[in-house]
Amino acid sequence: MKILLLGSGGREHALAWKIAQSPKVEKLFIAPGNGGTLTVGENVQIAATDFPALKSFVLEKGVDMVVVGPEDPLVKGVYDFFESDPELTSIPVIGPSKEGAKLEGSKDFAKAFMLRHGIPTARYKSFTADTLEDAYAFLEELEAPYVLKADGLAAGKGVLILSDIEEAKQELRNIVGGKFGSAGATVLIEEFLSGIECSVFVLTDGDSYKILPVAKDYKRIGEGDTGLNTGGMGAVSPVPFADATFMKKVEERIVIPTVEGLKKENICYKGFIFLGLINVKNEPMVIEYNVRMGDPETEAVMLRIKSDLVELFEGVATGTLSSKSLEEDERAAVTVMMVSGGYPEEYEKGKEITGLDQVEGSIAFHAGTKMENGKLVTSGGRVISVSSYGKDRAEALAQSFKNVQKINFDGKYFRSDIGKDLGAL
Ligand code: AMP
Ligand code: GLY
Repeated sequence: MKILLLGSGGREHALAWKIAQSPKVEKLFIAPGNGGTLTVGENVQIAATDFPALKSFVLEKGVDMVVVGPEDPLVKGVYDFFESDPELTSIPVIGPSKEGAKLEGSKDFAKAFMLRHGIPTARYKSFTADTLEDAYAFLEELEAPYVLKADGLAAGKGVLILSDIEEAKQELRNIVGGKFGSAGATVLIEEFLSGIECSVFVLTDGDSYKILPVAKDYKRIGEGDTGLNTGGMGAVSPVPFADATFMKKVEERIVIPTVEGLKKENICYKGFIFLGLINVKNEPMVIEYNVRMGDPETEAVMLRIKSDLVELFEGVATGTLSSKSLEEDERAAVTVMMVSGGYPEEYEKGKEITGLDQVEGSIAFHAGTKMENGKLVTSGGRVISVSSYGKDRAEALAQSFKNVQKINFDGKYFRSDIGKDLGAL
């Protein structure tokens, strides 16, 4: 079959790498892709949100399935665009409908959904510019630190955690005043939860579901989880604290009520659900939903799926996911992200990348790279991630480091402590 994958990051290279391994795939297109995806498929110069151009391409090439990587096209309704067009309706889109994508597109919607279905999450209330006095009163009820969240998509920057109540009130005014544009017209105030986080990925056909290998990502730029937040500096899978007892709670209290809740509310959802969880004294609670795979978690998780991903996607498309099997690789996977010097603040692009041909026993997934005049150059903050297997995390981490040393570009930076907080192995 012919598959079109939407997106251009490390997540999409990892998905493309896995999809391309399926014997069912005759041709893989990636729109728009990056310098890595073109090694496993064909890049197509169409933006993932340019629906009319995607339509022409899909019809011209006879694409049989569309797999959506990032949230943007989902929140903008790519599923519904295909579903409602008679020429496209027979082509399955792996991803939720626009209504389902609100689980990520609106934090207010997501929290209300969790409340309706008894899914454990932090206490919260939402406010607008007209209800600021009530917001201040709610802040007074809570203890520091204070968690403020813009309701809409804010490029991963819409969450603020503040220790001082006056500062929290000021930021509240800033957010409703437009600090994050229209995403902050509604703002949520949440109780602060303390614990260690992990990412659980669920694939659903709207009826049954599969839980993918659990991962943990590392968001801060500095060693020991210090400094500014980034798009993600690395990931590990599995996660030791997410053991069978913990995962049973996740399944019973979160996964099942989420899938059942979507069904009860007639929300069409055939795709990935990303549960951002926090372990509060061994009790899983939901920090957030996303409606796609995580990045860079995907660059570790894909290594740990033994089954044919395309077969699972077919199960999603035809509502037969329950008849498919998902087999996990027993080995650990560790991903180390190499970023441009200065990231997540100002950084330069266009630096030549060398040494990729020296990589051995690891997989280099491209995030921000492109081919320019026959040379591979950096084109983003996160440049390349190196993912490796190991009998345990320590071995996988050592393997990733060995190869990270071989890849070079001006200003390269990475963290050397990915997964080390979880214990020696
Ligand atoms: P996001 O930018 O939505 O990925 O989330 C930002 C981060 O803020 C999360 O990964 C958590 O580390 C943190 N966070 C969000 N909500 C809470 C909360 N209620 N309590 C503690 N930390 C939180
Ligand atoms: N790694 C977190 C995310 O993809 O949102």
